[in-house]
Amino acid sequence: MKKEFLDLGKQPIANKFINDGEFDNEFLFDLKAVYDDETKLVSLKEFVAPELMFNESYAYHASMSETMKDHFGYLANRLQKEYRPNNVLEIGSNDGIFIRHFNPSTTIAVEPCKNFADMTSDMEYKTYAEFWTSELSRLIKQEHGTMDLIYAANCICHIHDLDDTFTAVRNLLSENGIFVFEDPSLIRMMERGSYDQLYDEHAHIFSVTALQNILRRNDLEIFRVDNLNVHGGSNRIYVKATSNRYQEVDNSVGYNLSKEDEFGLNDFKTYQLFSDRVKKSKEDLVSTLKQLKQEGKKVIAYGAASKVTTVFNYCGIDKSLVEYITDTTPSKIGKYQPGTHIPIISPEDGFNESVDVAYLGAWNFRTEIMNKETDYLSRGGKFITHVPQVMMF
Ligand code: TMP
Repeated sequence: MKKEFLDLGKQPIANKFINDGEFDNEFLFDLKAVYDDETKLVSLKEFVAPELMFNESYAYHASMSETMKDHFGYLANRLQKEYRPNNVLEIGSNDGIFIRHFNPSTTIAVEPCKNFADMTSDMEYKTYAEFWTSELSRLIKQEHGTMDLIYAANCICHIHDLDDTFTAVRNLLSENGIFVFEDPSLIRMMERGSYDQLYDEHAHIFSVTALQNILRRNDLEIFRVDNLNVHGGSNRIYVKATSNRYQEVDNSVGYNLSKEDEFGLNDFKTYQLFSDRVKKSKEDLVSTLKQLKQEGKKVIAYGAASKVTTVFNYCGIDKSLVEYITDTTPSKIGKYQPGTHIPIISPEDGFNESVDVAYLGAWNFRTEIMNKETDYLSRGGKFITHVPQVMMF
């Protein structure tokens, strides 16, 4: 049975940055989270139609961050060395940040957002500009045979029907093939109070426990888990066919399952406590921003991450509290944040001497940003975050 534990109010499409004049009739939905006490899966109560989110105007551009470029470059190298795949398929290949490290003649990309699919096609990768389904996997198998490595980053948690997703993977894996995927981790979200991991695209926030339950019923098994720091805390899950005796199950699987159980992820009470913490976080953030306003401080936001859409819409933060948001992504600059309609400008135009406090929207890139913004910090500029609790630094 699915039990609701969190209500983040009416929310827009988090990555649909809008133009001046497009403020009316914006699509809104109820952002609520539920816990399934059978599979232990945490999901959104109401899913948003994929076509509304993943289309030719999708804004999230993975290569905008040096941290992510290094992350995928290092991983591609390691997977090649450790597993020596003869061919590779990536589900949700974005701008090719991962597959660019593999040979185009033996690598396939699947990416429903046409703006990004065109990029990998131009890089000579066979690209299917489609959503990942068992139907597509059958077609790919007919055309290219089975795959030794299927990879996905920050994509599987976007897909509503996980049974179909995993059936599609199982169908396409070679005998000793592996499926590796990484997505934000539920335990890290709960530990950090980072409720902004919840937005339209994140249909599910995965625990290892829930994934194990759902993968198993699709003849797949987890054999290794890496705990990662990217995207505010993620897990990389390594999966094999249940019939594959070649890969041994690593200790990291049992370790993560026990850790999740000890934390209380299998107990609904933990989710109710999380919900109380989120309400407190909202009160603290809004009162801090109001206080800064009263003191005459200029407050902006740094990074128009999709997560900020959740925070600002849930907390009712608009231009009266946060003047504008700076972001490095060309397709976001000159547009407005979904829902709140706060303007987005380039750091060159907006991150200057007049700023007193910057809400750190891209808190998951805190180290990268702190290293970059030493001038701002040394002249007394402050950042504010809500993770793990509302604080200035
Ligand atoms: P993400 O957390 O969804 O990856 O989004 C981070 C956003 O922050 C993305 O739009 C790029 C932006 N950003 C900056 O504006 N400046 C920076 O230094 C970094 C690291 C990210």
